[in-house]
Formats: sequence, structure tokens, C-alpha cells
Amino acid sequence: MSEAPLRSVAVIGAGYVGLPLCLHLAKAGLSVTAVDVDEQVVREIEERRAKIDEKEDFETFFADPDVQANLRAQSKPVEADAFVLAVPTPVVHGTKEPDLRAVEAASASIVPYLRRGNLVVVESTIPPLTTENVVRPILEQSGLRVGEDLLLAHCPERILPGNIMSEAVFNARIVGGVDARSTRRAEELLSTFVKGKLLLTDARTAELVKLLENSYRDVNVAFANQVALLCEHLGIDTGVAIELANHHPRVDILKPGIGVGGHCIPVDPWFLVAACPELTGLLRAAREQNDAMPERTADKICAAVAGIEAPAVACLGATYKPNVRDLRESPALEVFEILRGRGLDVALYDPLVPSLACDSVLAAARGLDALAILVPHDLIVTEIRYRKHEILRAMRRPNLLAFTPGVL
Ligand SMILES: NC(=O)c1ccc[n+]([C@@H]2O[C@H](COP(=O)([O-])OP(=O)(O)OC[C@H]3O[C@@H](n4cnc5c(N)ncnc54)[C@H](O)[C@@H]3O)[C@@H](O)[C@H]2O)c1
Repeated sequence: MSEAPLRSVAVIGAGYVGLPLCLHLAKAGLSVTAVDVDEQVVREIEERRAKIDEKEDFETFFADPDVQANLRAQSKPVEADAFVLAVPTPVVHGTKEPDLRAVEAASASIVPYLRRGNLVVVESTIPPLTTENVVRPILEQSGLRVGEDLLLAHCPERILPGNIMSEAVFNARIVGGVDARSTRRAEELLSTFVKGKLLLTDARTAELVKLLENSYRDVNVAFANQVALLCEHLGIDTGVAIELANHHPRVDILKPGIGVGGHCIPVDPWFLVAACPELTGLLRAAREQNDAMPERTADKICAAVAGIEAPAVACLGATYKPNVRDLRESPALEVFEILRGRGLDVALYDPLVPSLACDSVLAAARGLDALAILVPHDLIVTEIRYRKHEILRAMRRPNLLAFTPGVL
């Protein structure tokens, strides 16, 4: 099998994960084709723009002469030395079963383009054994055998939205091949731009490690949310209790909130629950705890205006976490929808989302019976810190509500 240097890469799926990868690989001098079924994504890349947050970082990369020369985008795969699959892996709404249709479709789409010696890397987050049991048989429909003619690895992504371009380079990465040669070849691909450690393992360990990381974080947030519920029940200030507990040298309780959003943490633990339901009671409980938070948050907002005739309420913050513009899987949107569903007259503002913009917290607060700070963007917290009295005076009733300690 040819082990010549990798010169060309086709990245299948050019979203939050795939596009940064394309940019880094192109800057590193590889010939890169971004492949996406969404024509608009293809057009944007061809026009050297991206709708993803962190615009400045992307603009700098797009302007780079190597990126200009080496990156193209199209809706169909091409022949390449390496293929990277970076397509979505959601769970089915309702059942929470993994939805692998995009991974299957992306794998099938490259079959006609596979040649002996090619490397295929799955970068999407996937349930245990997907590389070997789902992707491998699809690739082998080409007539080529993984392990003999093709190299196959899973290299999960760890980027943090808000700091994508830098984390893609400096994070340590897990590299797991279906055999040692695949691992080494995938390492060779990533080492063209990754400066963090490349931690070599096998594909199934790599799959599990990614899921463990996000499950660990989900459980920690669920614990913080449970602490908040306990404190409320006992009439104790949650922020003070957590702050005091965290003075223990080996305790680090996270901040409670209105739930867990985004593309990864509310999704990935379900892959483990689906794979081993009888062994994952804790993960399921954490998921259910965090998923219940929007409803509980809505309960608190309703309680704050109970007895007021036709109360005017607004929610501030709509994104899935503070200081980003990303609305995907946002618990804040869920809270808003629950309140609307209960017939409340409620508005939603977010200073970071142009379609929901408001001039200031003060402007949003005028004449309200309750203002709920759902997402504590720095912009919001800073204004509250400096203008709290003014904001409260502007309201019809001084009901300023927050669900994360330290905001008010
Ligand atoms: N966004 C993150 O911060 C992050 C971090 C770590 C891991 N991940 C994982 O990375 C994977 C991709 O996530 P994302 O956030 O980049 O998703 P995304 O929705 O931003 O991008 C996925 C892209 O794939 C395209 N696509 C879908 N099916 C396709 C197909 N068959 N062929 C070609 N293109 C196709 C879509 O049009 C879309 O542009 C997921 O498994 C996700 O869990 C995401």
C-alpha cells in the first residue's frame, strides 16, 4: 500500500467542525476540497465567507494566500489521498436513539472515489463501534478491504465554539485507527497542523473517550443543577453554598443554570445510554436532570408573576451558552417556548443575535412585571452590575430573575 505523503484531502461536511479543518489543512499546504450537500455552504466557502460565529478568525484564514490557493468547495466528493467525515450525528427526537444517517450517507458518497492506499478519518462524534460496524462495511462496498487496501481511523474533535480556530490547533487529540497503520496515517494527517499532543489509540477507544468527555461534563452540570434545587428547597443561597464548598481543595462544583445546550453535551451521553442501557443509569439520570431544567425555569418565572393580571414578561439571552451567537439546542429557546405555550405575554431578546437584538437591559426592562436573565452574556452581566437600580426602577414590578449565581 502506498505510504507517500498525504497531499490531498476531501472533507465531507463543512460546518462547525469541517470548515475549520479545511482551513487549517489548506493553510498547511494540502490541496483541500470541502464537500457539502448544502449548496449555500458550498457557495459561501467558494466566496470565502462563513456564517459561523468567530467571523474575524475565519476572515483571516480565508485571506491567507495558501488557503486561497488550496481550498475549493463543491457538493460532490472528489478523489483524494484522505477523506475526513465531519457530518452531523444527532439523536432521534423523542427516542434519543443515535441518528447515523448522515455518517452512512457521507461514507456511501465517497465509495466511488476511493482508491487503494486512501485514508478515511471519521471526525464526527459517533456511538461505540460505529467506525468498525457501520463505516467500514460501507467503505468496503468499493471492493477495497480496510486493513489491506484502505486505512480507517476515528479522530474525534474537541473544539470549543467561541475559540474554534485556536483550539483546533492547540488541543490534544485522540487518534484511533482500526489498526496500527491506520493510526499512524491519521496521525500524519493531523500533525500537518495540530500542535497539541496526538494521543494514539485504537478506533473503539477513541469513540468511547469522546463520549466519556461530554458525559463527564453533563453529569457535573447535572450535579450543580441538583445542588441548586436542594438549596432552593432548603432556603439556602446556591451561589454561597457552591462557593464555600469549592474552597475544599478537591471540590469543584460547576455553576447551575437553565439546562444544557449545544450540539454535543445534550446528545453524546445518549450514545452510551443507547449502547448499554443497563450500565448507564447515572448518565440517563444526568440527562433527565438537565433536560428538566427549562421546565423548572419556566415554573419559577411563572411563579414570579403569579396573581398579576396579564403580566408582561421578557427573557434575556437566547443562545445555548453565554457569549456565543449559536442558538442550536438552546435551553433558553425552550424556556421561551414553554412560557409562550402557557399563554404568557413574553418577549425574547438577545443582544448577540441580530434578529432578537435589544439596545440594552434597561431598554428591555421598561414596563415589565418580570425580566428573566436566561443567558448571562458578559454584556448583560456588566450592564446589570452598573445599572441595577435604574433597571429595577424602569420595571412595572422589580422582578429581576437569574438562574446562575453571581448574575444579580
Ligand atoms: N460543533 C462543535 O463544536 C463540535 C465539537 C466536537 C464534535 N462535534 C461533532 O462533529 C460533527 C459535525 O458537527 P458540526 O457542528 O460541524 O455540524 P454542522 O451541522 O455545523 O455541519 C455539518 C455539515 O455537514 C453537512 N452534511 C450533512 N450530511 C452530509 C453529507 N452526506 N455529505 C456532505 N455534507 C453533509 C451539512 O450540510 C453541514 O454543513 C458532529 O458529529 C458533532 O457532534 C461538533
